[in-house]
Amino acid sequence: MTTELRDIRKEEFKLFQDYVYKNVGISLADHKITLVQGRLSKRLRALGLNSYQEYYDYMIADRSGEEEYHLISAISTNVTQFFRESSQWDFLKEELPNILSKKEDKRLRIWSAACSSGEEPYSLSMFLHSNMRDSAQWDISILATDISRRVLSKAEKGVYEEKDMQGVQRNALSLYFTIEKNEAGDNIYRVTDQIKKPITFKMFNLVYDSFSAYASRFDVIFCRNVMIYFDAETQRRLISHYHKALLDNGLLFVGHSESLTRNKEEFKLIKPSIYRKT
Ligand SMILES: C[S@@+](CC[C@H](N)C(=O)[O-])C[C@H]1O[C@@H](n2cnc3c(N)ncnc32)[C@H](O)[C@@H]1O
Repeated sequence: MTTELRDIRKEEFKLFQDYVYKNVGISLADHKITLVQGRLSKRLRALGLNSYQEYYDYMIADRSGEEEYHLISAISTNVTQFFRESSQWDFLKEELPNILSKKEDKRLRIWSAACSSGEEPYSLSMFLHSNMRDSAQWDISILATDISRRVLSKAEKGVYEEKDMQGVQRNALSLYFTIEKNEAGDNIYRVTDQIKKPITFKMFNLVYDSFSAYASRFDVIFCRNVMIYFDAETQRRLISHYHKALLDNGLLFVGHSESLTRNKEEFKLIKPSIYRKT
């Protein structure tokens, strides 16, 4: 007989708050207690556990790290979209000739940090392909990272459903996707190899992993809609890492509700949610 799953206690929630802050860098505010309970309850039921303390102990005991990924997936949102925040893409289109004209080595390095299920790095790849007539003569590389293995494996597949395709214009759809049918007879959209080729997907924790391999590397960094989960000091540290990772005059794109108020000496605001390294 299974006993009823009881509500999460404050002290149980505190265990998850501390764990997630220490290991993922995400600050879970006290008022998120009901949200976290709602999201974790499915996992507890799947495991046949009756209390959040039991689940916490189970997660800590799991040395494979697998359960931590379930926890991260449950507490963070992976919502994303192709060509999200159109004003940023309009700006990048205007700015691209300027960026390219300064690159004598014909090397372009872009980072989509917290790329979720891949819509952002694929948008970047499609954008470059359609806006650079001579893209084949360039050495283009897009690093796409996320903390969650689940979203990265979807990203690597590059297969999307009809509902994911908002934001992709008709001509991009026919140029950069092949259309197939799934078992239910619905259309599914597969990103072409040409668009996949410049992208490397990798697991990377923006709060705890080392940025040392990325010093003075990138022309452009997209870090959108993830900093909102971090506290002020973690955000400040992350932006400083981006400052070092960018080349001179490099561009940093953040989410529309994010800003760089604590790193004024490192970046100059040039448009809403677009910054240039100073
Ligand atoms: C809302 S999505 C943003 C996706 C995309 N950048 C966009 O704006 O459409 C946030 C992503 O951040 C990832 N994330 C959360 N904490 C992270 C961390 N500490 N390091 C790296 N990625 C993290 C989540 O797994 C999730 O995929």
